Amino acid sequence: MKNTVPQALEINTVSESKIGQVDFENLNFGNIFTDHMFVCDYANGKWQTPKIVPYGPLTMDPSARVFHYGQAVFEGMKAYKDDNGDTFLFRPDENFNRINKSAERLAIPEFPEDYFFEGLNALLKLENDWIKPGFGNSLYIRPFVIATQASVSASEADEYKFMIICSPAQSYYSGDVSVLVAEKFSRSASGGFGYAKAAGNYAGQFYPTNLAKEQGYQQVIWTDSNAHEYMEEAGTMNVFFRVNDTLLTAPVSDRILDGVTRKSLIAIAEKEGYKVDVRPVKVSEIVEAAKNGSLKEIFGAGTAAVVSPVKAFGYKGEHYELEKQENSYAAHFKKALMDIQYNKTEDTFGWRYKV
Ligand SMILES: Cc1ncc(COP(=O)(O)O)c(C=O)c1O
Repeated sequence: MKNTVPQALEINTVSESKIGQVDFENLNFGNIFTDHMFVCDYANGKWQTPKIVPYGPLTMDPSARVFHYGQAVFEGMKAYKDDNGDTFLFRPDENFNRINKSAERLAIPEFPEDYFFEGLNALLKLENDWIKPGFGNSLYIRPFVIATQASVSASEADEYKFMIICSPAQSYYSGDVSVLVAEKFSRSASGGFGYAKAAGNYAGQFYPTNLAKEQGYQQVIWTDSNAHEYMEEAGTMNVFFRVNDTLLTAPVSDRILDGVTRKSLIAIAEKEGYKVDVRPVKVSEIVEAAKNGSLKEIFGAGTAAVVSPVKAFGYKGEHYELEKQENSYAAHFKKALMDIQYNKTEDTFGWRYKV
């Protein structure tokens, strides 16, 4: 990542920071935003001058296509500060590539790499005080693109906004979760855009997740849309199963998001000599493993919670509890990954990016 500010980047800073009003000990995830935001408009067939401006509301025409056709994609990444006050991103090239992959599927123009990295770098330097040191503290970074063109005609827009907003986040542990394996609903379908971080994928999850909550489950394990036979993702995370000492996880596909945490955990596990089997995981084999005691752990993997252990799952009216493991893989891999993110260990994979 280059450390220079691009010639074109315009920076307009706030006269007074609102950081003094923020209680960093009691942050609710995703509710507080930093002083500035990055904005770049697409018009006349090209991305215009990128800008960093004070954080604030947008004014848009009510007919802007994002409101009607959901032409919107986003990313989720974090900046971490080590004990020396240095700031790092974790594999930001993966997020950059993925937002353009998502954009392509939603017929949104590709965003230039230098605008992204130089804009992000400048924004993070401005917001340095918002990135708190301490294991688990981070600055959550939300890049997104929306179709702003005023028109309700059902086709792709020719005007967009690419933006980056940032929200300070604390380490949080909401307890081990119970999940319901989907028998009817799907978050994505073959030939669809489940692999894209497209806004509509998330809107479609809320209703089935609410139904699962009514049954006492916090999240849904999404299964394949064809026959609901295979385990695919857990809520907004990729999902791993530990059967005896083997880690199982589904291969990515057009229905599954290619998670940065997922691929990093697989790489760490393989390097450390764990058995990792990346293959379609049948619901029936996990139910069987739960019954015969070989299912030791289930955990979700994603940027927000890193690793999120599952304590029980429901399927076809049955409830399966998992026994608490002494030396859980979930805890081991969470620490291994966070040690890299917070510069507490050697980065043998070359994943850390110093801001
Ligand atoms: C549907 C879905 N699956 C998996 C993930 C995990 O991806 P990552 O590890 O890149 O955060 C996310 C995002 O966090 C997601 O939205």
